[in-house]
Amino acid sequence: MRFQGKKLTVQVFGQSHGEAIGAVIDGLPAGVRVDQERLNALMRRRAPGQGAHTTARREPDIPEFVSGLADGISCGAPVTVLIRNRDARSGDYASLRDIPRPSHADWPAFVKYGPAHDGRGGGVFSGRLTAPLCAAGAIALQMLADRQVFVGAHIAEIAGIPDDPFDPVGLKPEDLAAPGQKSFPVCSDGAGAEMLSAIEDARRDGDSVGGVVECASLGLPVGLGGPLFEGLESALASALFAIPAVRGVSFGKGFEAARMRGSAHNDPLLVADGRIVTSTNRAGGLQGGMTNGMPLLVNVAFKPTPSIALPQRSVSLSRMQPAELIISGRHDPCVVPRAVPVVESMVALVLLDQLL
Ligand SMILES: Cc1cc2nc3c(=O)[nH]c(=O)nc-3n(C[C@H](O)[C@H](O)[C@H](O)COP(=O)(O)O)c2cc1C
Repeated sequence: MRFQGKKLTVQVFGQSHGEAIGAVIDGLPAGVRVDQERLNALMRRRAPGQGAHTTARREPDIPEFVSGLADGISCGAPVTVLIRNRDARSGDYASLRDIPRPSHADWPAFVKYGPAHDGRGGGVFSGRLTAPLCAAGAIALQMLADRQVFVGAHIAEIAGIPDDPFDPVGLKPEDLAAPGQKSFPVCSDGAGAEMLSAIEDARRDGDSVGGVVECASLGLPVGLGGPLFEGLESALASALFAIPAVRGVSFGKGFEAARMRGSAHNDPLLVADGRIVTSTNRAGGLQGGMTNGMPLLVNVAFKPTPSIALPQRSVSLSRMQPAELIISGRHDPCVVPRAVPVVESMVALVLLDQLL
């Protein structure tokens, strides 16, 4: 449960229904003021219980910093952040000890850890573990902004309904930040309303839906990253695939590039205001594993939430027989809206690590 960068490490700890969850962030530069209000604002964007499209679990997610900050300024010691679990209802999970949820981590975790595994609320596999990642990411986002590097994301798609994409060439910091200031982080509010109604339809049916988050970064120098295993794509993909429910990570045109001709995919180079830029950005700002100075564009695909209210086919582990599973806990009918700040956080941690 550790993000291992070149300079930065983030050790995540805790289980969904344990006493607390948290992270130890090591390698941050000393002397940087952490704006607690901005940090709390990012945490609130991820926190549950903010409308019909999220789980009804109520968690205030107030981070307590128990080391590494003195008077709100990083002191060079590892930063330890603690988030207490307040609203765990472990009774909801009793039946899952015997009947694993399809497409959740219950079955492989049972085999790997045995009966001692604390699978309540998903245990260490819960989306709840992304809260400390957001606390770490919020600090990274602030340190990047101090370096004039900006990261922002929006819901690019839910249940097949697309949002307007970010402008891949002319994206401005204010357009990047705009979706994150809304309760439902999209560029087009019309598309957002359609997505919300698709989520509500799925919830009413006892079902769930998935989607895609698009994240962009502006202000990166040319040449960040490197060849082969030094590639920025590798570092970003590794961090982004750590987010529960992620099924795909792609850069620029991604898989669509496989269906294009070179002449249609290549980004022509030109000189503008004394700088070398490209007139299109199908590469998503990355070539040869390195930034090319254009906006860095990554898409992250999320599967539909595995816990659904509809009856599902599973097995009883004690009886080794087929069993019907009815899940009674509280779940997100779509994890994508809450995952937007998590994607921003993971991208920020990787970029800060590369820049340090
Ligand atoms: C923010 C967030 C919230 C999530 N909420 C739920 C949930 O309420 N119910 C659920 O079954 N899965 C939820 N998940 C997804 C599971 O944690 C994930 O699907 C599971 O651990 C299996 O991992 P995998 O999908 O990466 O294979 C959530 C994920 C994220 C990122």
